[in-house]
Amino acid sequence: MKALVYHGPGLKAWEEHAKPALIEASDAIVRVTRTTICGTDLHILKGDLPSCTPGRILGHEGVGVIDSVGTGVSAFKVGDRVLISCVTACARCDYCRRGMFSHCRTGGWILGNTIDGTQAAFVRIPHADTSLYPIPDGADEDALVMLSDILPTGFECGVLNGKVQPGAIVAIVGAGPIGLAALLTAQFYSPAEIIMIDLDDNRLAVASRFGATRTINSSDGKAVAAVKALTAGQGVDTAIEAVGLPATFEMCEEIIAPGGVIANIGVHGVQVALHLERLWDRNISITTRLVDTVSTPMLLAVVAAHRIDPTLLITHRFKFDAILEAYETFANAANTKALKVLIEA
Ligand SMILES: NC(=O)c1ccc[n+]([C@@H]2O[C@H](COP(=O)([O-])OP(=O)(O)OC[C@H]3O[C@@H](n4cnc5c(N)ncnc54)[C@H](O)[C@@H]3O)[C@@H](O)[C@H]2O)c1
Ligand SMILES: [Zn+2]
Ligand SMILES: [Zn+2]
Repeated sequence: MKALVYHGPGLKAWEEHAKPALIEASDAIVRVTRTTICGTDLHILKGDLPSCTPGRILGHEGVGVIDSVGTGVSAFKVGDRVLISCVTACARCDYCRRGMFSHCRTGGWILGNTIDGTQAAFVRIPHADTSLYPIPDGADEDALVMLSDILPTGFECGVLNGKVQPGAIVAIVGAGPIGLAALLTAQFYSPAEIIMIDLDDNRLAVASRFGATRTINSSDGKAVAAVKALTAGQGVDTAIEAVGLPATFEMCEEIIAPGGVIANIGVHGVQVALHLERLWDRNISITTRLVDTVSTPMLLAVVAAHRIDPTLLITHRFKFDAILEAYETFANAANTKALKVLIEA
């Protein structure tokens, strides 16, 4: 079969690879019909994630069809259409039982990281019964690809952890796919304002179409003052960090109102200053989270009922054989205006 293989920092190839085989009784092999590329795949290619070693097939998002199942799999059979979760969960260990699938003792985020991933014709899914989801009849499979990672991430790490409330003022720093997923799902709770902050006017225009009530281009360095001006000097009740840089986390520290929540989503690679000298008396909370994908069944129902339309995030489409072009397009988002690139069999 063909697969997108990581060969060390800066190196990848679309090449022949052995088809995966069942290893554990709880495994399934899935024929991948649709996948996509995540910002995290670009982090891996930069060499930022040493857990992912050369020779690994990348990708942790996608939908497909069950090709074979181990003897221990009872929820799925050959031919079933399935959504692949970016997080693998045994559903039995202490962390899984606390709803922290991301820290599963024998799972977590392993796909396209410590085991071979979804940017291939076939993928092996461990703990298949509890890591795959059946696709409801009539569901739009393009939309479901957005449920493998970005929607649960924006919702769980941003909206749920950020305790978005009806009537509240929310700021989302970063209008990439994850920030936009937080924007779409924050609207479940009817906040009064959702202020979107980014450097890219195209992404801010997309955010306006997705329901942001205000947008701020922070490239002039005046975003904090702009947020204060919009909120009578008070700041925001929820500040969602969806970039992963010191500057954007510190912006959240500056715009949070008393009693507010800073919900970090971004993957941070360097030290970030925590200004307790200003924040100690402001009754705020700061949360961090690796997506657990516990909200996937709820999000599936919401998407199946057309209450939100994640296909709005898909800007480009490619066939598997053009996956290298898909990477180029996705990596040059400032020029190509890419958000999510859909890769189809
Ligand atoms: N916690 C988790 O489980 C989890 C899961 C998936 C992704 N992530 C992380 O979420 C973050 C966002 O992911 P994404 O795919 O949307 O990334 P992305 O790179 O596509 O988007 C980031 C956005 O931030 C903007 N930006 C960059 N610098 C900025 C600045 N100084 N001020 C304002 N905006 C700025 C960019 O223009 C871009 O639109 C990444 O760090 C990613 O690794 C975390
Ligand atoms: Zn991802
Ligand atoms: Zn577990």
